[in-house]
Amino acid sequence: MLKAVRGTRDLLPPETETWNFVDAAARDVFRAYNFHEIRTPILEDLALFQRSVGEETDIVAKEMFAWEDRGRAASEKGQWLALRPENTAGVVRAYIENKLWDRPGVQKLYYIGPQFRRERPQKGRYRQFYQIGAEIIGPASAGSESPARDAEILEMLATLLDRLGITGWTLQLNSIGCLADRARYNEALRQALASIKDKMDPDCQRRAVTNPLRVFDCKVPEDQPIIEKLPRISEFLDEPCRQHYAQVKEILRSVGVAFEENDRLVRGLDYYTRTAFEFTHGALGAQNAILGGGRYDGLSEALGGPPAPGIGFAIGEDRLVMSLGKSPEDVLRKPDVYIAPLGAGMNKEVARVARELRRKDLVVELGDESFRLKKSFEIASKLGAKYILISGENEFSTGVFALKNLATGEQVQVPRDSLAAAIQR
Ligand code: HAM
Repeated sequence: MLKAVRGTRDLLPPETETWNFVDAAARDVFRAYNFHEIRTPILEDLALFQRSVGEETDIVAKEMFAWEDRGRAASEKGQWLALRPENTAGVVRAYIENKLWDRPGVQKLYYIGPQFRRERPQKGRYRQFYQIGAEIIGPASAGSESPARDAEILEMLATLLDRLGITGWTLQLNSIGCLADRARYNEALRQALASIKDKMDPDCQRRAVTNPLRVFDCKVPEDQPIIEKLPRISEFLDEPCRQHYAQVKEILRSVGVAFEENDRLVRGLDYYTRTAFEFTHGALGAQNAILGGGRYDGLSEALGGPPAPGIGFAIGEDRLVMSLGKSPEDVLRKPDVYIAPLGAGMNKEVARVARELRRKDLVVELGDESFRLKKSFEIASKLGAKYILISGENEFSTGVFALKNLATGEQVQVPRDSLAAAIQR
């Protein structure tokens, strides 16, 4: 039997109702904050992720689905393609390619879609997973660098989680410094690691030399005491960076969004500068980050674009749904009415009644003229329909229908043109 590929899964009804509920809530919140949707391709040039997320990161070094896409002729050189492991790089590429800086103000963009990472699957971790993300990007003259944008993003996230009824989350906040701070910090890490790195796992040793910040991603338990003693980024922030961070925190306090500072939070992608954050949730177990994000002020330039400071986040929708604490039953809209056509020739008649009711925004499920009444009742109650509408030749000739409430058993006679109102009541 053919099966879904390891780390991928089918999302089936009724669970998809929960996903749609989450998508709809996110779109509503994005609308209120004046974000607009962007859809970038799932396939991108591999170099995009190497130059943004970074070659030394786990994502690019170990987890990419990438391949050389051969030209038609055997001699033709292929292009290296990748399934996107995240969407910020694609958004910034699109910003540059489509000259979005020509548009007024900052660009406030959101996306909802699948991402791909070849990780070891476990609870809350998939190879195809879904992100709901948003980015604010634009010229500094449009205010893209302002700490007010960082705070706006964080406050919007708190609003979305509240709206979904998710409680028990923690916002972990850090500043990982401006580019210059990062360079000094990297140097300090390199020095601190020089004498001790030989005791570390070979992979971590390599990082200690090539990209010391990535040592914090080392998961080997024996290395943790070494990592714990390394210098902290908070000691390396220069004055403008410190100011920026202080203002983000000030606005968050002003709007009442609680946060915890965590100066070990460096994030697993290379493009970050200054503000970095994660929202964690207790119900998720080992994979406890519902979402992550931060600033990426130099990313556009690194991809050959104009200066365009930006900040954004991505929610892991799979994890968000897990922490929702709502079952599909809680959000599912069951049929308002099940129409039971009674007898030959009735399908074409009930089709018209169904059309009338559906146009009035009712959820209608249709039976078939071949079903006996008993069978129609069974299906209607299994589907959880509120009413069953019995529709035979007699009903159509008199124009009066028997409408039965399946929960109470109460049955009333309703003229055809009052059906919608009776059901809505
Ligand atoms: P990230 O931290 O790599 O950031 O991913 C964001 C979220 O995606 C994670 O917090 C997690 O909830 C979810 N996620 C990641 N990998 C998996 C997986 N294998 N299975 C299930 N969920 C997963 C980014 O992707 C950045 N692009 C976020 C960002 C936007 N930064 C700035 N703008």
